[in-house]
Amino acid sequence: MTVVFSGIQPSGETHIGNYLGAIRHWAVDQHEHTSYYCVVDLHSLTTPHDPAELRSKSLAMATMLVACGLDPDVCTIFVQSHVAEHTRLAWLLECTASIGELQRMTQFKDKSARTSGEFISAGLLTYPTLMTADIVLYDTDRVPVGEDQRQHIELARDVAIRFNSRYGETFVVPQGAIPKTGARVMDLQEPTNKMSKSVDSPQGTVMVLDPPDVIERKLSRAVTDSDGEVRFDVAAKPGVSNLLSILAASTGESVEALAGRYTQYGPLKKDTAAALIEALRPARERY
Ligand code: AMP
Ligand code: TRP
Repeated sequence: MTVVFSGIQPSGETHIGNYLGAIRHWAVDQHEHTSYYCVVDLHSLTTPHDPAELRSKSLAMATMLVACGLDPDVCTIFVQSHVAEHTRLAWLLECTASIGELQRMTQFKDKSARTSGEFISAGLLTYPTLMTADIVLYDTDRVPVGEDQRQHIELARDVAIRFNSRYGETFVVPQGAIPKTGARVMDLQEPTNKMSKSVDSPQGTVMVLDPPDVIERKLSRAVTDSDGEVRFDVAAKPGVSNLLSILAASTGESVEALAGRYTQYGPLKKDTAAALIEALRPARERY
């Protein structure tokens, strides 16, 4: 029996990166495996939050997960802070990870650089050990996440292996499951940055709950480039490649096949908006 675990922070609104990169795959896995999906409120506390507001956001995130197709009769949906063992195990794992390996995490480097000169919590550094605790507590085999979590999963594996070798076989060593398309949705206005809950880019971020006309407008204004050629090339054409990825993830087709069908950016943007609106419709209506 395969055990699946994944988590999502309740701070910030759910965007299409979360949906295409993670949540919609959770809805598939729940029918095939024993699945746990966790609203990781404690992970949000690396920056200060109003407690009452975070509680209500946790409930809103659980609502969103159900709207996106998670079925509480089939999988387990819960809030991280309701299960004290997550933080209890986190301490043991903090003592198993090294400061050096935590400092090498890209997310830590990016976020601490972005807030340099301001308060940087110790939790921002140790966050991946709490994430490791989340995962290994449930004897998890498979962790479906977006590309940005790959490094954290690698760390979780290293820490689990190290713990097992120090103290005896205790934890299952988990594996990441990162989708082929949609694993790294980029900001529509800054297509070299990933779409993110914590970056303020309202025109660059498409929310799961955005109404169709808003999605059309955001897609029509997406930043592309001036050479006018439709081709999948993330380095040279980040904006166009991002549109192709979103379209591919929304329709199930490959980026290469889709690229061959377009010669202009206008129709690509239009079709991407239309496909996305359809892909999100059930979640928006159920929410
Ligand atoms: P977070 O919003 O950081 O709690 O992320 C929840 C899940 O969504 C994780 O599995 C992330 O890897 C995934 N995710 C977040 N942003 C993106 C993105 N821009 N593209 C694809 N997946 C993403
Ligand atoms: N760190 C993840 C993110 O920011 C969220 C998360 C916390 C998670 N614990 C987890 C994801 C355990 C998978 C498994 O997206």
